[in-house]
Amino acid sequence: MKSQIALTAVGLVGGAAAAGSEPLLPLPPMGFNNWARFMTNITEGIFVDAAEALVKTGLRDVGYNRLNLDDAWSTMARAANGSMVWDTKKFPKGLPWLTSYMKSKGFIPGIYTDAGTLSCGGYPGALDHEEIDWKDFKAWGFEYLKMDGCNLPDGGEPVYREVYARWGKLIAEDPEAMVFSDSAPAYFEGQKNLTDWYTIMGWAQKMGHLARHSADIQTYPKGKSWPSMMYNYDQHVRLARYQKVGFFNDPDFLNVDHPSYTLDEKKSHFALWCSFSAPLLLSTDLTAITKEEVEYLSNKDLIAINQDKLIQQATLVSRDSNWDVLSKDVENGDRIVTILNKGASAGSLTVSWERAGLSTKALRRGKDVTVKDLWTGKTTKVDAKSGGITASNVPSHGTAVFRIAKSVSPVTPTGLIFNTLSMKCLTDDKSGKVSFKACDGSDGQTWQVRRDGHINSILRPDECIVDAEGKILSRHSGCSTDGWSYAVSGNLINGNSANCLTEAADGTATATKCGYELNEQVVALPIGVTVNEK
Ligand code: GLA
Repeated sequence: MKSQIALTAVGLVGGAAAAGSEPLLPLPPMGFNNWARFMTNITEGIFVDAAEALVKTGLRDVGYNRLNLDDAWSTMARAANGSMVWDTKKFPKGLPWLTSYMKSKGFIPGIYTDAGTLSCGGYPGALDHEEIDWKDFKAWGFEYLKMDGCNLPDGGEPVYREVYARWGKLIAEDPEAMVFSDSAPAYFEGQKNLTDWYTIMGWAQKMGHLARHSADIQTYPKGKSWPSMMYNYDQHVRLARYQKVGFFNDPDFLNVDHPSYTLDEKKSHFALWCSFSAPLLLSTDLTAITKEEVEYLSNKDLIAINQDKLIQQATLVSRDSNWDVLSKDVENGDRIVTILNKGASAGSLTVSWERAGLSTKALRRGKDVTVKDLWTGKTTKVDAKSGGITASNVPSHGTAVFRIAKSVSPVTPTGLIFNTLSMKCLTDDKSGKVSFKACDGSDGQTWQVRRDGHINSILRPDECIVDAEGKILSRHSGCSTDGWSYAVSGNLINGNSANCLTEAADGTATATKCGYELNEQVVALPIGVTVNEK
């Protein structure tokens, strides 16, 4: 049967975080999902074992309290009344039994379906059965719903929008809505033209609580997991502007026991996802989890920055071929600095106070700076006159994370401004010319976005970027003339001309009439900059 998709503008009413109300999902979800480890071999036993293992290892008690079923839990056909039917070979006691078992052990149950005609694994999809499935999933005891996006009718973004809006309506109208994880963006990632991807992230943010935005993390046991994880990481850094209280960008599971990972690599995966306040959903055989794995996954200091109430997604401070540095704020005013060694050998890196978003001048007036290494738990007093924070001897593919105690210094959002399609970095040069270039970690690519909307690189701290009749230049007068504002569209808009920062075909930075989420006009900014919800 062909579904009737009406291509009219559909109101996407927010069930996620209606203004003023407590969001349904205030913090990133933590728990277990079977997919990346067991794929379609899903069974009741896997979830009973997972529950027991999470209790026994103490992982439940540090926060991993969700058990989410993925694809392939049903039979291939619906019942006569239209309901989905669970596969009794896989779930002999039935799903209502399983959810009450989960709840009795302190877990929140979640389920999977697909918005199209069939799931990605070929099981019945929910298209045109939205209401009955919503009702059944709730009646069976589920409180979290992953909505995949395979096998939708042709028609691209408008069809996805219409179909997902049906779910948006159910969420908005139900006082006890389930947490809604929306995979629609994942079907539009990595394209030559990213406008649809951005558009879908925009509406996903208004209707649900999570968006799976990119590829599947490498499943067990084939393939290489580090490049898979880094691919999703790289997609994730493009989208920080969408994450807000009640809504999370989801870079997919922690596939902890993938055999291709080194211990340093999986610790990096965890540390990065914590820095992003991303979902921490383990997809691993919990009955065989090792002591080292339990230890790092239980790191309370890292979980605390993941589960921090501000739920900021750390953004890039700098990037070169070996190092990525990211930073964010946490609720008590501390500053987080995350340092990833992408290189093939161990190395050390110092991140200046200024790059960390702090003012060297203000720090000098104060005392020592208290810095905690979140892997070792060791706190040190660092002389404010020193260069900054040093990550020493970070192993290849390792990640250091530091927590700088609330200091005397106010924070200025500091870091890369980059085009989220080309991934080129806005670059200031000594002459005041500004262009988009390969990211190289230099001062000319480290921008301070001041509270008053003026923007300068730390190469030329007294010169701010201006729209000089369509050309972007950095000059002294700019620090009092040209203010900029940032929109959830990804546009950086000049307050005088109302034009948008643009990457011209030759890499020159220009200001041109703002279009609709155009590839050359969508940029990422350091976290802390106000994002206008337009
Ligand atoms: C898609 C999703 C995965 C998983 C499978 C199930 O590939 O992205 O996370 O749910 O479908 O078939």
